[in-house]
Amino acid sequence: MTDPFQDVDAGGDDFVDAVAQALEVRAQEPIMVKIVEDYLDLISYPPGGIHIEVGAGTGVIARRLAARATTGQVISTDPSPGLVAAGQKLGTGISNLSFEVAGGASLRFDESSIDTVLFHTVLSHVPDPSLLLAEAARVLRPGGTLVVCDADFEKTSLSNFQGDPLDMCAKYFAENFVTDKYLVSKLRALVADAGFDLTHFEVTSRVITQGDGGMTWVGMGGQHMVKSGQIGPELAQGLVAEYQRRKENGSLYGHLPFATLVAQR
Ligand SMILES: C[S@@+](CC[C@H](N)C(=O)[O-])C[C@H]1O[C@@H](n2cnc3c(N)ncnc32)[C@H](O)[C@@H]1O
Repeated sequence: MTDPFQDVDAGGDDFVDAVAQALEVRAQEPIMVKIVEDYLDLISYPPGGIHIEVGAGTGVIARRLAARATTGQVISTDPSPGLVAAGQKLGTGISNLSFEVAGGASLRFDESSIDTVLFHTVLSHVPDPSLLLAEAARVLRPGGTLVVCDADFEKTSLSNFQGDPLDMCAKYFAENFVTDKYLVSKLRALVADAGFDLTHFEVTSRVITQGDGGMTWVGMGGQHMVKSGQIGPELAQGLVAEYQRRKENGSLYGHLPFATLVAQR
């Protein structure tokens, strides 16, 4: 089963809309805001600097980057035309932010021309992350900054008890919507092999006790099981209802560690 994030548009308009919404919702969670703002603190923003986000989806993180890089420009790139179109609408009026359809293994930028390359939950969705890291190394200027933030999907959990059906959805999502759920464990070696000097590595717990962040696992996972003929729509609806019930009665408990890596070219 291929990770649908490798080609979001192939999933159709409804899937593009669902992904766009899920990315926007996730980025608003207080813990995700903190993770992002903490790594944005570690980037330098020289006048005229060029910062690119690769695999930016709707550009929800690129918008935050643009708010920091006020004297430079931010280019939000993604291979999905549908997500780029959604991002262009959401980013309207931000003068130092532009959008491009592009895959991360082949960027149009000259070598040593870019100040920052950011990958936020992208490398776990590609078959060969070393190709994207090599391209980042090519376009970054010497001393430029690489930021990688990714989820340790192997530890995805939505578990309140042994055999919890919501936890099955979380595990199903990690199996079917992620290309390499062990990416985080390999990240430091991959970045070193691409010629970068590691300056920062930390892992932060994204704990989900409210909101719809974990609904991505239950909703998308359930829909995928229905489409595959594994369960009927009634069960998928029941799983969504159970997520809502836990959200309302205060028993929702999800967990996914996020790693942040910063390195210099
Ligand atoms: C989970 S989303 C993350 C989007 C965004 N970075 C965020 O966190 O909101 C993964 C993104 O990786 C993109 N992607 C998949 N394959 C890619 C590739 N080869 N190069 C660049 N981006 C890719 C997808 O189109 C999708 O937008």
